[in-house]
Amino acid sequence: MKTGEHRDGLTADSVREYSFLEIIRRLMSYFMPYRLMVVLALVTSLVSSALFVIQPYLIKIVLDSYIIPGDLEGLWTFILVITGVYFVGIVAEYFMNLITGVLGQKVMHDLRMDIYRHIMSMEMSFFDRNRVGRLMTRTTDDVASLNELYTSGAVSFINNAGVLAGIVVVMFTLDVKLSCAVLTVTPLIYITARTFAEKIRIIYRDIRKSTARLNAFLQENIQGIRLIKQMMRSVWSLAKFTGYSEDLNRNKIQNVFYYGVFFPLMEFIGVVAVVIILVYGGGRIHEGTLKLGVMVAFLRLTDMFFWPVREMAENFNIMMSAMASSERIFTLLDNEPSVTSPQSPVTTIDNTEIVFEHVWFAYEGEDWVLRDVSFKVQSGQRIAIVGPTGAGKTSIVNLLLRFYDIDRGRIIVGGRDIREMSLETLRGLFGHVGQDPFLFNRTVYENITLDGNEADHGFINDIMKRIGAGQFVQSLENGLDTPVMERGSRLSLGQKQLVSFARAMAANRKILILDEATAHIDTLTESMIQKAIPLLMENRTSIVIAHRLSTIRNVDTILVMARGRIRESGTHEELMKLNGIYATLSRMHLKA
Ligand SMILES: Nc1ncnc2c1ncn2[C@@H]1O[C@H](COP(=O)(O)OP(=O)(O)OP(=O)(O)O)[C@@H](O)[C@H]1O
Ligand SMILES: [Mg+2]
Repeated sequence: MKTGEHRDGLTADSVREYSFLEIIRRLMSYFMPYRLMVVLALVTSLVSSALFVIQPYLIKIVLDSYIIPGDLEGLWTFILVITGVYFVGIVAEYFMNLITGVLGQKVMHDLRMDIYRHIMSMEMSFFDRNRVGRLMTRTTDDVASLNELYTSGAVSFINNAGVLAGIVVVMFTLDVKLSCAVLTVTPLIYITARTFAEKIRIIYRDIRKSTARLNAFLQENIQGIRLIKQMMRSVWSLAKFTGYSEDLNRNKIQNVFYYGVFFPLMEFIGVVAVVIILVYGGGRIHEGTLKLGVMVAFLRLTDMFFWPVREMAENFNIMMSAMASSERIFTLLDNEPSVTSPQSPVTTIDNTEIVFEHVWFAYEGEDWVLRDVSFKVQSGQRIAIVGPTGAGKTSIVNLLLRFYDIDRGRIIVGGRDIREMSLETLRGLFGHVGQDPFLFNRTVYENITLDGNEADHGFINDIMKRIGAGQFVQSLENGLDTPVMERGSRLSLGQKQLVSFARAMAANRKILILDEATAHIDTLTESMIQKAIPLLMENRTSIVIAHRLSTIRNVDTILVMARGRIRESGTHEELMKLNGIYATLSRMHLKA
């Protein structure tokens, strides 16, 4: 059983730890479909860095074989050769950049698709636990940071490692003793780079954390802007935001500080290397055991040696952040959805009878929201569920649609446990008007059909008229094709509810669920909808949840819920006669 699991389940804050190799292996798997491109990228990269590395060697030849001996004719021929070599190098670099760039974008696209698909497949409790802003950070920022890992990190790392190896090879080909002398600085480089890397790694984790927190806060506060303004909490919100932003700043500034120390230190080590060449090499030139061209080549090689080292250290930053991002992305992807379709699902059911058998359910741990709930709705029957706020009415709907899975008992639809059907089959049975109507930033028409059915405008207009929304549609400048803006912000709450009502009607499903469907609608429209509802319910199994008892008189059975239990059930007359909760509520309504 999942009891207690919700609390321990994944949230955006908890990130599983993956080993370095595991992360690399996972990332590589994304490159597998593009093997050919990877090979091409490696080859071009090898060519371009090899041609880069032999530059100082060419300088040595120019100096020692042509300029110093005074062979001007040979010099011109050689310069032509050099130009050719450089040209090939440039072309190789161009192709390398092109191929790696395209490759990176392809992989990032695949990864984003995987993340999106995965998020969409997660159960509702996942969204209760994870803040929207954080999930957004994963799909955008974390993927972007992975892209950098790839472009600035991996690609340049391979490149630079190649260049470094090449430089060492060229050095040793030129002069073994001088090479050994220069390379005595490598331990210094190693210690500096390592210390730096360690500091940066820690800071980078913090930076990502504070960024995610800042994003989540921003997202939530923009969404809740009305409330903040109306409650005059701008100052409070500003103070919070200042705190988060300062946190981020502090980490970033520390980052700047370490870089500020690191680069001059590297520069200094570079100077030490140059001094070694000048003192030791100079002495040997004097002795006649070293040619001037070799020493010049060494000076240039040393300079070149520090570029990749600097770049690798700089990119270390990016690599670390990308490692953290990969961990977050893979934690998300590895978090299997807990509400899923079975292996071999039932695809057809004979009827739409709904049975709850001793159902227990808690959103978290053992805070039971439904306790031993049992009821039955026969095919074509209409039931109403009433009860005080927080009684668990909406939760019943959430369970029926498998937004959450129950803890104990069974829910049976059409003779089959709902866990035996695929989620599509199950959810495809229901037309649902929720308590909190949601609209996408699209047109009214698109919000009704949600691209799912081919209903033409005439049909939808007809539905709108039947539910008393004809006037509303006419008042829109483009009728059904008017955009409703972000979350339907240009519609009133009642109008939004009319749209979601029309959505349920247009979908024409076998079972109808109305959760406070008329709560925000004015009395006149409501009375029109009240006339439309019976049409809608005709030949359908229906569940109506309502606060206004007047709206549910004509149902077959009324279930009265309180604190997660079904306390009374029967027709209006029966319940009035029983003289219990329902009768009391009903009398209160009449008085009001
Ligand atoms: N996503 C959730 N996570 C945790 N607890 C929840 C969640 N949704 C609802 N609850 C809790 O479950 C209980 C029942 O909620 P439910 O939405 O089913 O009530 P309701 O009967 O529909 O109330 P209302 O008439 O106000 O719509 C409440 O105590 C509520 O706090
Ligand atoms: Mg509710």
